[in-house]
Amino acid sequence: MDKQHKIGMFGFGCVGQGLYDILEKTNFRAEVVKICVKNKSKERSLPAHFFTYDASSILDDDNINLVVELIDNADEAYQIVTTALKRGKNVVTANKKMVAEHLEELLQLQEKHGVSLLYEGAVCGCIPIIRTLEEYYDNELVFSVSGIFNGSSNYILTKVIQENMSYANALKQAQDLGFAETDPTLDVGGFDPLYKLCIVALHAYGVIAKPDEVFNYGIQSLSEHDIRFAIEKGYKLKLLASIEKINDHEVSLSVMPHFVGKGHYLYHVENEYNAAIVEAAFSSKQVFTGKGAGGHPTGSAVLSDISANRYEYKYEYRKALAKKGSGLLPLKISYGQVQEIYLRYHDEQDFKLLPFITISEKYQGTDFNYVIGTVRLSDLYKYKNELNKRNVFVANTGKKISTEQATPILNGVETLV
Ligand code: HSE
Repeated sequence: MDKQHKIGMFGFGCVGQGLYDILEKTNFRAEVVKICVKNKSKERSLPAHFFTYDASSILDDDNINLVVELIDNADEAYQIVTTALKRGKNVVTANKKMVAEHLEELLQLQEKHGVSLLYEGAVCGCIPIIRTLEEYYDNELVFSVSGIFNGSSNYILTKVIQENMSYANALKQAQDLGFAETDPTLDVGGFDPLYKLCIVALHAYGVIAKPDEVFNYGIQSLSEHDIRFAIEKGYKLKLLASIEKINDHEVSLSVMPHFVGKGHYLYHVENEYNAAIVEAAFSSKQVFTGKGAGGHPTGSAVLSDISANRYEYKYEYRKALAKKGSGLLPLKISYGQVQEIYLRYHDEQDFKLLPFITISEKYQGTDFNYVIGTVRLSDLYKYKNELNKRNVFVANTGKKISTEQATPILNGVETLV
């Protein structure tokens, strides 16, 4: 059934304006009835009658049949979205933090009130990864989903490694272009891709992972030494989010910078572009790339959700519900995976913080040191806060580690001084 949408929008920032522009240019059959904004003194590109400062003038209006939530603040977004769902309104949102932090409740509210919440725009901008995992990968045996889920940090990494730009300037550009969050720590600290990963986990595996159960580490401590290391070895750095099925009962999740070589699928994914690699038993590897941030790309994903809503599309969460219905236990989060990492440090005590299982390379220079070796994900997770506080930088070398390789061989340490 193709119904006429009467939209109540929340937020008219980068994505809201991008969406409005797209609705106009595509002549989309929907009427934006009201837009709720906060700042009364800000100049707007639309006539004043479009705007309201009172959420209830949208939430209480029975004429409005779709709420499109595009505000920045996750707590306020939660209030708006849950109220709208409870009032029987379908909702489209792009707020990844809000969705990731309340997945379980949002699922229940949709079921209880017979409404739909769509959030394609919350993950990887215009890459249709959520619906792809939900629909196309409905029955496939998905081994892993990984990729670049944050446009701002990819933009920064591109500029500092390839264009020799300073980190501060690159971040400023990412902010000016509307890619970064209002609090850019969410981007560069690896939180934004973490929220997106938690949403992906639900649609790829039916797993509800809480953000604080997952190891995330960003690019904030990147230094010129790490950039030089990458360039000398012919690598680029990419902030990767990944979820991998370990066995029939467990998945492993993480967000951290990775060194990638020329042969890697993501080597050429630059600037604000995102990418998602899905590996599955029969389709093998598929790579999806596209703009991960910005008003128009994200607005395009939101438009796709609005359009899907016209024919009553809902996520069915079949992977989560199938487990429940069959009495099978949901997949658990595993921290047992061994990773090979590069740790750049200054003080010896910072090196000693992480219990390395093996060490294959150790460099001690006059102004910095690094070590390459294997550690367990559980230890990275355990020392996550410490790693963020200390003068160190951690990145995955990208090497696949088998259990045998992770057997301690500490007497085989190679020291390059
Ligand atoms: N700040 C986000 C990013 C916006 O840089 O990817 C899109 O979610």
